[in-house]
Amino acid sequence: MTRDDVKLLKAAAKSLEFFAVMVLRAKPTEQQLRVIRAIDKGKRHISIRSGHGTGKTTLLSWIVLWWGSFREDVKIPMTAPTSHQLYDLLLPEVRKWWEILPDVLKSSVEIKTERVDFPQGFAVARTARKEQPEALQGFHATNLAFVIDEASGIPQIIFEVAEGAMTGEETLVIMAANPTRTEGYFYDSHHKNRWMWECFQFNAEESENVSRDWIEQKKRQYGHDSDVYKVRVKGEFPSQSSNAVFALADVEDAVAREVYDDSGAEVWALDIADYGDDRSVLVKRKGKLFYSIEARRGLNLPELAGWLLYEVKNAQRRPAVIFYDAIGVGSSLGAVGFDVGLDMLRGVKASNTATDYKTYENKRAEWYYTLKEIMEEGKLPDDDELVGELMANKYKISNTGKLQIIDKKEIKNELGRSPDKADACAMCCESFSGLDALAVEDELPEGLTEEEEMYGGAAW
Ligand SMILES: Nc1ncnc2c1ncn2[C@@H]1O[C@H](COP(=O)(O)OP(=O)(O)OP(=O)(O)O)[C@@H](O)[C@H]1O
Ligand SMILES: [Mg+2]
Repeated sequence: MTRDDVKLLKAAAKSLEFFAVMVLRAKPTEQQLRVIRAIDKGKRHISIRSGHGTGKTTLLSWIVLWWGSFREDVKIPMTAPTSHQLYDLLLPEVRKWWEILPDVLKSSVEIKTERVDFPQGFAVARTARKEQPEALQGFHATNLAFVIDEASGIPQIIFEVAEGAMTGEETLVIMAANPTRTEGYFYDSHHKNRWMWECFQFNAEESENVSRDWIEQKKRQYGHDSDVYKVRVKGEFPSQSSNAVFALADVEDAVAREVYDDSGAEVWALDIADYGDDRSVLVKRKGKLFYSIEARRGLNLPELAGWLLYEVKNAQRRPAVIFYDAIGVGSSLGAVGFDVGLDMLRGVKASNTATDYKTYENKRAEWYYTLKEIMEEGKLPDDDELVGELMANKYKISNTGKLQIIDKKEIKNELGRSPDKADACAMCCESFSGLDALAVEDELPEGLTEEEEMYGGAAW
């Protein structure tokens, strides 16, 4: 080791900022720097609420390498709510920066599948699931650091079990998350337990790491004033309007879920574009797994039938049923489809009487609440438009005391587009026992004229 090496390592050991900038040659963003400097000042309990893409995971990877490389008797439990977060994102980021280390440091650090070995200790990845409450338990070392990514999604029990170790004064605890939940350990760190934490907010609008185009795209996808925009872009906790049908945390969980129930029938649903620039959306699910969502614009009826026929012919499993909205443009899809062999098509109408008519105002409300139930153990496609649309759905209580989804016009106003993807997922939750396709075709929704019915205007 040269004298310069010794000098470099000495300075790096003392300062995370020096390590990041001079050793890793990184250019931390202003937001990352604020955290780095807090750590250099000796702050040891750090909680970051953040929008997407601001460099949280990257910052955590720098901290892992820094904390591990220069200390004696080191242990670094790294955790996140999904194995994807750990093994596909955090660990590869650690590896990426390890590659850049100068040989003197690099040769003393070994990156393995689930852990990183340092000269005098290790970092280990443990997925934090409620079935494994011991994920963070049992770590003792002189230099302990808990590195916790997407902390908002981590079950409370994991923190309760580890609480003793985490509160040690010399222990570094760094949590970063997209603040999806308004309860739990991470939420408390920004609220009632704030006195114990150095809290930071990384607003993606202000991050050098996030492009303006991305921000504009998110405004369009989620609606600028929506909770989803707040959480995913600004890094603010959701205000959770009291009449939202879905909690953002539940939607996020369903998108990220790695263990789900896909036993059950293959069911598809086609939400058909009713006006000019709306899209037709085809959703496919197997049991509680929604595995495909696809939108197409400007298809006429024969083209829609052709699309479905192609999908059915190329499907791994033939769908037991394909629901479609039998209003306006769609009213004759059943007949057109039947002629080409699509005998599993079933027309449904959102405005029809619910099966559980005592609870729900109409099918639309029933479908959305069934979707909510399926989502609890199911998986939704990772589709930002879908998330924005689901979150724009609010309920109200109808004159007859039943659950109803607010008018579609209101949803369109908030989103700036029609919630086609969410509607297709909801329709895909129609039960198919007790379904009488013909009766559905014939029934005219209450209060609609023949003409409105033809164009499907008020049917959702
Ligand atoms: N200071 C930086 N300089 C250059 N690139 C960076 C910097 N910080 C992060 N990046 C890069 O930006 C991308 C996003 O960073 P990262 O995954 O850390 O963000 P994140 O906040 O964890 O995102 P998400 O919300 O999706 O989890 C990565 O490719 C990462 O390597
Ligand atoms: Mg990340």
